[in-house]
Amino acid sequence: LDIAIIGVPMDLGQARRGVDMGPSAIRYAGVVERLEAIGHEVTDEGDIQVRVTKSSDMTQTNLKNLNEVRIGNTKLADKVHEVVTNGKFPLVLGGDHSIAIGTLAGISDRYKNLGVIWYDAHADLNTDETSPSGNIHGMPLAVSLGLGHDELVNIRGFAPKVKPENIVIIGARSIDPGERELIKERGIKVYTMHEIDRLGMTAVVEDAISYLKSREVDGVHLSLDLDGLDPLYTPGVGTPVPGGITYRESHLAMEMLEESGLITSAEFVEVNPILDERNKTADVAVALMGSLFGERLL
Ligand code: ARG
Ligand code: MN
Ligand code: MN
Ligand code: MN
Repeated sequence: LDIAIIGVPMDLGQARRGVDMGPSAIRYAGVVERLEAIGHEVTDEGDIQVRVTKSSDMTQTNLKNLNEVRIGNTKLADKVHEVVTNGKFPLVLGGDHSIAIGTLAGISDRYKNLGVIWYDAHADLNTDETSPSGNIHGMPLAVSLGLGHDELVNIRGFAPKVKPENIVIIGARSIDPGERELIKERGIKVYTMHEIDRLGMTAVVEDAISYLKSREVDGVHLSLDLDGLDPLYTPGVGTPVPGGITYRESHLAMEMLEESGLITSAEFVEVNPILDERNKTADVAVALMGSLFGERLL
């Protein structure tokens, strides 16, 4: 593959500072070398500039830092669009999960029937009306469905970016009331920790893959929030939830996704080096990228 790495030092979508250093931590953990060793062509496109406006947030809204999150995501969307148009595989490094708004805005005009795998402890399906926190990192999937604040929904001038029936959520264990309603109303496919415990990760990923194939998707974006894993393995995240996916299960999931040949873009988000233990979370992110991009023992 021809992989383009894009860093997004965004920490304005949530309350804890430090996640803006995620892209550096992931680079320090050796992402470029790791993917090159597999045999891929890797270009590091550097970081998207976030926090450009000096003016304070004047918008009448309960969303925190709406203006700067919108500006950062608009730049990201344009960059991702450029990379995809040049036939490269976008690998986006976060940054908090609000950046999925920009990533999806950038890829979805290329893939008219895009599938999305949302690997996360959370559903990130809140809108400005249902959000308990006002944190935009809890909203990107809803925004991509065309739900929420106009300024986020209409980035790159079209909406929605994905269809509810093309989304698969894996690892959910913290779902807010408004999100639960939306999941039921729109029929979004969710494998909670219950299904992972009950069926095992093999069956869950097999099922997710055949579901997306039955939807006849023309590409699949993997949006991996490191808090999908148990905090035992990825402590460097801002909103940890116990009872998560294991390290082994996650490697298996990445390997199976790679074998499916479906994945056309990916992002790894919520790595916060300040909350981490000796860069453990970034190391796990890079190890999972290894599996996702075809690294094998033998
Ligand atoms: N559901 C909570 C909220 O809306 C937490 C969201 C956490 N999202 C994340 N990407 N870590 O605030
Ligand atoms: Mn285009
Ligand atoms: Mn999460
Ligand atoms: Mn998330």
